Amino acid sequence: MSALKNPFSGLMLCSFLVILQCISAEVGKLVCFYDAKSFVREGPAQMSLTELEPALTFCNFLVYGYAGIDDENYKIKSLNPTLTHDRQHYRHITALRQKFPHVRFLLSVGGDQDLDSEGVADSGKYLRLLEQPEHRKSFQASVVAELNNHGFDGIDLSWQFPKNKPKVQQGVFKRVWGSFRGLFSSKSVDEKAEEHKEQFATLLGELRSALRGSGQLLTVSMLPHVSAELFIDVPTVLNNVDFVNLGTYDFQTPERDPKEADLPAPLYEMYDRDPSHNVMHQVQYWLNQTSQISAHKLHVGVATYGRAWIMTRNSGITGYPPIPAANGAAPAGRQTVTPGLLSWPETCELLQQQPKDRDVPHLRKVGDPTKRFGIYAYRAADDKGENGLWVGYEDPTTAALKADFVQAKGLGGVALHDLSMDDFRGQCAGEKFPIMRSIKFKL
Ligand SMILES: *[C@@H]1O[C@H](CO)[C@@H](O)[C@H](O)[C@H]1NC(C)=O
Repeated sequence: MSALKNPFSGLMLCSFLVILQCISAEVGKLVCFYDAKSFVREGPAQMSLTELEPALTFCNFLVYGYAGIDDENYKIKSLNPTLTHDRQHYRHITALRQKFPHVRFLLSVGGDQDLDSEGVADSGKYLRLLEQPEHRKSFQASVVAELNNHGFDGIDLSWQFPKNKPKVQQGVFKRVWGSFRGLFSSKSVDEKAEEHKEQFATLLGELRSALRGSGQLLTVSMLPHVSAELFIDVPTVLNNVDFVNLGTYDFQTPERDPKEADLPAPLYEMYDRDPSHNVMHQVQYWLNQTSQISAHKLHVGVATYGRAWIMTRNSGITGYPPIPAANGAAPAGRQTVTPGLLSWPETCELLQQQPKDRDVPHLRKVGDPTKRFGIYAYRAADDKGENGLWVGYEDPTTAALKADFVQAKGLGGVALHDLSMDDFRGQCAGEKFPIMRSIKFKL
């Protein structure tokens, strides 16, 4: 009995007997998503393995994004075989465990990066896989082989379920639609949602049994706008996984909402917005479906990037969201070269910029004294209707507030999307990975 009272022998018991249970009972975890595209990006947004390494001191899990699914045999497949197999990138990532033995390396499937021939994230394949026991079996066997061949510690399913449709966002329409939302949403998204929910839970049970023997991990990441109500049997899913990363970011994006700029990831519900578009609602939904005991399996997703729109002359000059008459995604940043998306160092530079080009002033930052909704920066369109820009983003301070929220709610930790969009070179304030550090400091 005395051994049990001593916290140190408790830890030793853990490490000898039930490593897995001890890990899953921990809180304050930091799950770091690593988008492998960052390794092959051209130009200054390319992140090398040497540049990645300093982050691994802080991450408990590194999630490699992303693998896909073969639509003929439902096996897991690499989305870039030249990189992952010929150039052995999978191996080089998992070999980092030599230097960082505390990190567990997961391979993630889906993540909206498994595209069909039209370049759209393919959900049909992800549903068909669920429907047939032999498809699930084929997937399961291929996952076990892929993990073992490349030295991963587990699999993460960033399953590409169909997403809720964006709502009509115009005046009266918005409200009328809002009140009928419950009636319309489920049918239009997936007629067989009820079956798919059951089959997804079955798939997790099967995977769990296949991975249990080797102590490998099984996790689920919810993608933004995938309805847990439609597709997730919460108690069964939580029972079968080590943790779930919630899709609590990208509630508003230029792709979905080109005409209306708004804060992408508020912590709490905002006036006259979709009541589900905030971190609190998503967390509460999961907590409502299960016991508080499972709260430590829930991780809050936090983005390291901002979402940026073009402001037009009709968008007004106050910058106060929501911004009407936006004109879609803002021009790509210099480093990430992706319209509508700005990495943290790109936003930071726009905030500080000493205009060499005097015609274009830097962005004006607007903080959030309530600490409930998030921050933004903007530059109203000029007299010619040009140079208008609005960006809603996270900085180290707002990310820390989300980590505080996680602690206060007794949740398991934070899932960061992703390391390559943080300031991995320390361009902004000299410190590398400032958003990630700021979260870790709070956890
Ligand atoms: C959670 O449950 C409470 C109490 O039943 C309810 O009022 C609330 O709407 C639920 N929240 C979500 C997000 O499901």
